[in-house]
Parts: sequence; structure tokens; C-alpha cells
Amino acid sequence: MATIISGKELSAELKAEMARQVAEFPAEYGRVPHLAVILVGDNPASVSYVTGKAKAAAEVGIRNTTIRRPADIAEAELLALIAELNADAAVDGILVQLPLPKHIDENKVIAAIDKSKDVDGFHPLNVASLWQKQPCVLPCTPKGIMKMLERAGVEVAGKRAVVIGRSNIVGLPVAKLLLDANATVTIAHSRTANLAEVTRGAEILVVAIGRPKFVTADMVAEGAVVIDVGVNRDPESGKLCGDVDFAAVEPKASVLTPVPGGVGPMTITCLMENTIECFLAKAERR
Ligand code: GUN
Repeated sequence: MATIISGKELSAELKAEMARQVAEFPAEYGRVPHLAVILVGDNPASVSYVTGKAKAAAEVGIRNTTIRRPADIAEAELLALIAELNADAAVDGILVQLPLPKHIDENKVIAAIDKSKDVDGFHPLNVASLWQKQPCVLPCTPKGIMKMLERAGVEVAGKRAVVIGRSNIVGLPVAKLLLDANATVTIAHSRTANLAEVTRGAEILVVAIGRPKFVTADMVAEGAVVIDVGVNRDPESGKLCGDVDFAAVEPKASVLTPVPGGVGPMTITCLMENTIECFLAKAERR
């Protein structure tokens, strides 16, 4: 029987703490942090994420501006919008919701965001800082995962950790954070040979492969800590489900995160934290 870490509950606690902190800002700094979110097109998943971000900002007392642009926006126009937000002293954080339409170069867009306003932690200079162990904005999902492990009292140092997935957003940065926490880290992926054998060796298993119920009981060691980053539709029930077959893995794992209500809310909560961090860093530079 696994202990289930509720990202929803932990998020509620962290947001309440941040709301108390932000309530003091007008007296101290004359205003509250301001997050600008750019949404291109109307991909339903992206619309839902952006709505969730606006809701969390309202809960914390962060000012949120969501800027919507049509899917056929020219790349140059999007870059010009980012330049405008970079130059706006009243904007502390800029987030461009991904994925972007095919005709837009995502890397170019990410690199156009001022590093000090990059609340996603995706800018190449933030990524470089992470890999060089320099102060940086941490990407939200990996940061949220580390907070969940900490909350569950999981000792990471010295453990064998396996990350399934090698994306820039989750797999690579979470592997680096686990490494920095002194785990012995393996990055596995869809082309890993004998994947089940590799994952069975994991004391901590982070799954970010984007396939519904991909991790089955035979892939998990007895007593493993399992973090499920997936957000998928179950092809059978149509319901939201993770990358882990929750019902099958739950009896074997010692700690498990649910979907929904696990990593997802923590990602959004860490975005709020990053917005506050960028705001405070800016206030200190003055
Ligand atoms: N799309 C999916 N996850 C993310 C994220 O963390 N940030 C942004 N900007 N887009 C995403």
C-alpha cells in the first residue's frame, strides 16, 4: 500500500503561504508581482493549462495578464510582443504556453524572453546555469517533483533514481536535480533496451514518457517511490490518467503520486513561486 502524495493539498498549503507573502508586497514594493502569459491558438490542453495558471495567480494575489493570439500569428509578431513585455518594467514574468504552431520556431521564442523574466526556466542561459549549478530559475515541473519528494520525507541521497523521458521540460532537468540531490541517476526512454529491467532497479522512479498507463506493476520494484508526470486520456474510459497504471502499481510502491491532483498542481504552484522570485530579484536589482 503506497502513501499517496497529494499535489493538490501540498499546493494549497504553498499557495496560502505565498498569498500571505504577496499581501505584504504593496506596502514594501508598491505593487504585486505581474505574470504575463501568452497563448497562441486554441489547443484545448493549452487553454486549460493557461486557465489553471490564471486561477492560481488569483489565489496567490499575483497579477496575471493572459494575452491570446491567433494560431496563424507571424513569428516576427510574436517576437515583437515578447520584446514589448521584456521592456515593460511592470511585467515580472513572461510565459509562452507550449507547444507553438509548427511555423514558429519554439527555441527562437524561448530565447527571446528576457532571462530574468523567464518564469519557466526554459531560456538557454537558465538551462546552462542549472547544469553549471549556478543560481537560476528552475523549471516548474522538476521543481515541483523535488518538493513532493521532500514533503513525503523521501531521502534522495545515495538512491538509485530512474527517469523515463528525456524532454527539455521534465526528463533532463529533473534528472539534474536528482543528481544534485546525490541520487545515482539513469535516464531511460522509449528506445531503452530492456526498459522493465532498468526501471525495476529504481528506488525512485520518475515517469514522463507521455503514454497512458505505460508503467505496469512488473516494471516497479517493491517499495519504490513512483512519481507520475503524465497527463493523458485513458483510451478506454476517456478519463484523465497518468503514465503509470495507478491501480496496478499502488500495492507495490511505497509512495505514489496520483493523476490528476499530483504533479500537475505542483507545476502551477512552482510557476507562482518563480514569478515571486523574479519579482523579488528585480526589486533587489533596483
Ligand atoms: N506546455 C506544457 N508544459 C509547459 C510548461 O511547463 N510551460 C510552458 N510554457 N508550456 C508548457
